[in-house]
Amino acid sequence: MLLGSKCLHIKQQRRKPCLTKLNFLLNESDLPRFWYNINADSPLPPAPVLRPDTLEPVTPDFLSVLFPMEIIMQEVSTEQYIQIPDEVREIYKLYRPTPLLRALRFEKALGTTAHIYYKYEGVSPAGSHKPNTAIPQAFYNKVAGTKALTTETGAGQWGSALSLACNFFGLEVEVFMVKISYQQKSYRRVMMETYGGKVFASPTDRTNFGRSVLEKDPNSPGSLGIAISEAVEVAATSGGKKKYSLGSVLNHVLMHQSVIAEEALKQMDLANEYPEVVIGCVGGGSNFGGLAYPFLRENLKNGKRTRLLAVEPTAAPSLTKGIYAFDYGDSARMAPVVKMHTLGHGFVPPSIHAGGLRYHGMAPSLSAFHDAGLIDAVAVQQNATFEAAIQFARTEGIIPAPESAHAIRAAIDEAMDAKAKGEKRVILLNLSGHGNFDMRAYEAYLAGKLEDYEYPAEAVKEAMKELPKVKIPA
Ligand SMILES: Cc1ncc(COP(=O)(O)O)c(C=O)c1O
Repeated sequence: MLLGSKCLHIKQQRRKPCLTKLNFLLNESDLPRFWYNINADSPLPPAPVLRPDTLEPVTPDFLSVLFPMEIIMQEVSTEQYIQIPDEVREIYKLYRPTPLLRALRFEKALGTTAHIYYKYEGVSPAGSHKPNTAIPQAFYNKVAGTKALTTETGAGQWGSALSLACNFFGLEVEVFMVKISYQQKSYRRVMMETYGGKVFASPTDRTNFGRSVLEKDPNSPGSLGIAISEAVEVAATSGGKKKYSLGSVLNHVLMHQSVIAEEALKQMDLANEYPEVVIGCVGGGSNFGGLAYPFLRENLKNGKRTRLLAVEPTAAPSLTKGIYAFDYGDSARMAPVVKMHTLGHGFVPPSIHAGGLRYHGMAPSLSAFHDAGLIDAVAVQQNATFEAAIQFARTEGIIPAPESAHAIRAAIDEAMDAKAKGEKRVILLNLSGHGNFDMRAYEAYLAGKLEDYEYPAEAVKEAMKELPKVKIPA
């Protein structure tokens, strides 16, 4: 903290970036006590959430088959701040506050005039931001008397985080892991099993929906939509013993992730800078929401003008190519219907290596903000993303998760744009996880074997024929 306080001292005289420090660390006492709920400050009315069977608005009764009441109340809450339980903060302390670093070596290699900062969530035991919500979800389920949780996982990061959290609270967990990732990332499976999770390659023959998929295509690589359906089916037919847990998309998940930016705001202050651009990759939108929403609050309430940039793969471009419409959250049409940017719930994505970004939809709040022009989005190709990841690894040392590397790609493009315009632009990106389990993907990139892929607009158009026919005015 010595150097940090030196910078604060400078701040009182003139606001100059802190050049004596790379790593802006906070103390344990700086760990946030509240989650921030963007719904309290959103200028947009929330779209209703609908039952998949009747397409009528959901009731707490319907949701309570899947979630404990405390989570449901958080999902619909318009309170601006919600207190973080002590039991959750105690576990957060294993890895929070997470570091915020200035990427000076990376900046130098790029020769840019921009200042690039990254908030590093890869220091969590599971290796990503996902425990920020896995821990409270397991906690609220434990308090409600749930015996086991079911979930899906793409890349394995979410499954690892929930296995970790369930282990701490003595809950069992069943993880439906997208088959292609199960094959590509066997060490992630072992990690989940090490924490006590039970992992199945989805589609499985354990559920009606899994069996129906296998009947049509025995070699199905799976998708997040299919895995969600299997996990939902198991919870919904368990007679209340098992509940379902989702690692992204929903309001309460994005709210739990707000600890990222509440810390980052303090850390940027230690650095005596304020970001002009905030960048995060988007799968379902949780790490991006966790970093961007408190900065959106500052835009909406305190006159700041930070550009908020969501980055997705061209292979799963829900924000940049998807349609903003009501759609099912899963392939089997069992999960609630929400208004979001969607590629269609039947989307089976190509097997790109950023497994955590292969979802057909997007968080409804983020979709609404994007539609209203409050949040920007860009799609990037797989090879350009790995090129960025390698540049980052060779300068900053951290090997980023392929998902997080999307944010790095966009940060490079921003930094080069700033350089071309001769601007000093302050960029903050979310390094949502490390890629230490993603060596197969890096190996394929280094051997020149990765393929770029652009999801075709015609496929999106075709999928729109399958959207639910919702009568409620949006
Ligand atoms: C490291 C990492 N970053 C980002 C994501 C994308 O999810 P979200 O958009 O919810 O942050 C994932 C998903 O598994 C992930 O593992």
